[in-house]
Order: sequence, then structure tokens, then C-alpha cells
Amino acid sequence: MTDGRHPSFRVLTRLRRTDALRSLRRETHLAPEDLVQPIFVAEAERDAGPVPSLPGVNRVSLRELGPMVDEIAASGVRGVLIFGIPRVKDQCGGAARDPRGIVPRAVESIKRRSPDLAVATDVCLCQYTTHGHCGVAAGTSGLDRRTLEVLGRTAVAHAAAGADLVAPSGMFDGTVRTIREALDVGGFGQVGILSYAVKYASTLYGPFRDAAASAPASGDRRSHQIDPANAREALAEAREDVREGADAIMVKPAGPSLDVIARLRTAMPELAIAAYQVSGEYAMIAAAAERGWLDRRSAALESLTVIKRAGADMIVSYWATEAARWLEQGSTAGRRRSP
Ligand code: PBG
Ligand code: ZN
Repeated sequence: MTDGRHPSFRVLTRLRRTDALRSLRRETHLAPEDLVQPIFVAEAERDAGPVPSLPGVNRVSLRELGPMVDEIAASGVRGVLIFGIPRVKDQCGGAARDPRGIVPRAVESIKRRSPDLAVATDVCLCQYTTHGHCGVAAGTSGLDRRTLEVLGRTAVAHAAAGADLVAPSGMFDGTVRTIREALDVGGFGQVGILSYAVKYASTLYGPFRDAAASAPASGDRRSHQIDPANAREALAEAREDVREGADAIMVKPAGPSLDVIARLRTAMPELAIAAYQVSGEYAMIAAAAERGWLDRRSAALESLTVIKRAGADMIVSYWATEAARWLEQGSTAGRRRSP
């Protein structure tokens, strides 16, 4: 029924007509303070340098860490996630729990330099073991007491150095409970746990394993990470980790798991959700941009915005510092355009 003046369909494009209208209509505002920058810190100088499969990402030595942290803080990013690359590996990942190991030293140096940055540390054994598995032995399950004990001690070493959050990434059952107990007994009740409760057995971790030298020497991680075909199982993992004491839940890889982030947000509205845009997600955009097939900046910002739209509170991304600078430029440009 139309009288000729009113179309019989809804006009949904009116609020898309100008930049000002679009910004008023915008539901999701990505900001530097949503972002967390991962950092690879190498104990041995010779392990520092660019990561070929992550163009733009460097592994830094302790010496180079300071200037990098200054840049991150200046960009407006409020958090970092530390991955250590130890000088030596052994059969059971002994260096991971060393209070003078690479991660505790990195945390101390960051906290001295930039006390306002939130510092999270990866708690896992795969960078530290000769076999490259996340537990003390290949085929470790969540029922392996030794693995849990080492993870608990590792978390305490990081907390003692000043970490705000510890982030167990191995997906072994009972890890969160073990770490919570170890932290509390050690006097670190204020340190939070950012648990990788929803970590899919994804092929998109490939470039990270180059960067961290943490690929399993044989086999894979499918006995503990979740099958990418499953979403209900992810909810079960998240519920269990919250029950064990997780303060925030990590979902990864982020972009391929937007449905899971959204379901978690609906199922557990009060939950703090972190999403990790992993190395392969970064590499796909960076590689296409190098070939001129995608615009690096808009592809990166779009990929981050939709992760926030899905329901993530914080986003770990290799773009973090660069994206924060783009966002800063964008907001001042917007203000200049419309006085
Ligand atoms: C290891 C760990 C992985 C990532 C973070 N911690 C990968 C893995 O399971 O091998 C992946 C991060 C990325 O790809 O950026 N526990
Ligand atoms: Zn691991």
C-alpha cells in the first residue's frame, strides 16, 4: 500500500549517507585501549630479529625490549602479552619455571619502564621443551600431575616478577585450578588468570610456531586443543575454567571463531572475553597486502572491529600498536574535517 510519496519498503540507507551520520549510527568503536600487543622476547641475542612468516613482527632481545615497550605505550595500547624464547630447551621444559628465566626478566624490565602497562604472560611449555609439546611429555593429558605442577610454578615465577595476568595456553584440564591455588599460596592473590579456555586446534598457529620455535617435533596438539568443528564444547570449556577461577577467557583464533565469541557473550553475559587474532590471521592479511591484493590498513582495522562486534572485550593482535596509531590518526582527522 503506497500513496506514491511513501515507498512500500523501509529505507535503511539514510543513516549511511554522510560520514557524520555513519559515525552517529556506529555500534562498535574500536579503540587503542581494546588492544593487547604480543611480544616475543629472546633470551639469546642471536635469536632476536624479524620473523619471516610475520612480516613486521620482530623477536626482541632484552636490550631491545625497552624501546619497543615505549612505542607500544605511546600508541595508546594498554596491555602486552609476553612469550619467552629461552636460550636452552630440555626434556621437561625446566627453564619455564626459572624465576630468573627470560619471561620474569622481561616482565621486570617492562614494569620498571612502563608501570602503567598491563602485563600478561604466556604460561606453557612448548617453547621450553625439546619435543615442542605443551606438557612435560608428548601426549600429555590434563591428568598429568607433573605438567600441572610445572605450570603452577611457572605462573608463580611470572607473578613474582610483577605480571598482572598469567595466561595458561596449553588447554590441559585442571590448569586454572592448579595455577589459582599456586598463586594464592604464593601470596599473589591479586594476579589474574586469563585462560585460553577456547583454543581450537587451528592450522593458523603456523607462523607463531616459527616465531617461538615451538612446533611439536612429532604429532600435533589435537589431544588437548578443541576441534574447530565444535562450538558447544567451547562453552563447556569456558564454563569449567570460570568455575576453576579464570578471571577472563581467551578465544582463538578470533576471526574464525566470531560465532563462538558471540555465543559465549550471550551465554555468559558477565564474562570478560579476550580474543586472540593469531599469527595466521595476521600473516594472511600482511601477505595479501604485500602483493597489493588488499589494503593493509583497512583490512587490519576491519578484521579487528568485527572481533569487537562479536563481543570481545579485549583483542590480542600483532597489529595492536600499528592499529592504535591508525585509530589515533583517524580520530584526529575526523575532528579536523568537522569543526
Ligand atoms: C602455545 C601457543 C600457541 C599460540 C599461543 N600460545 C600456538 C600453539 O598451540 O602452538 C598461538 C598464537 C598465534 O598463532 O599467534 N601454547
Ligand atoms: Zn604450548
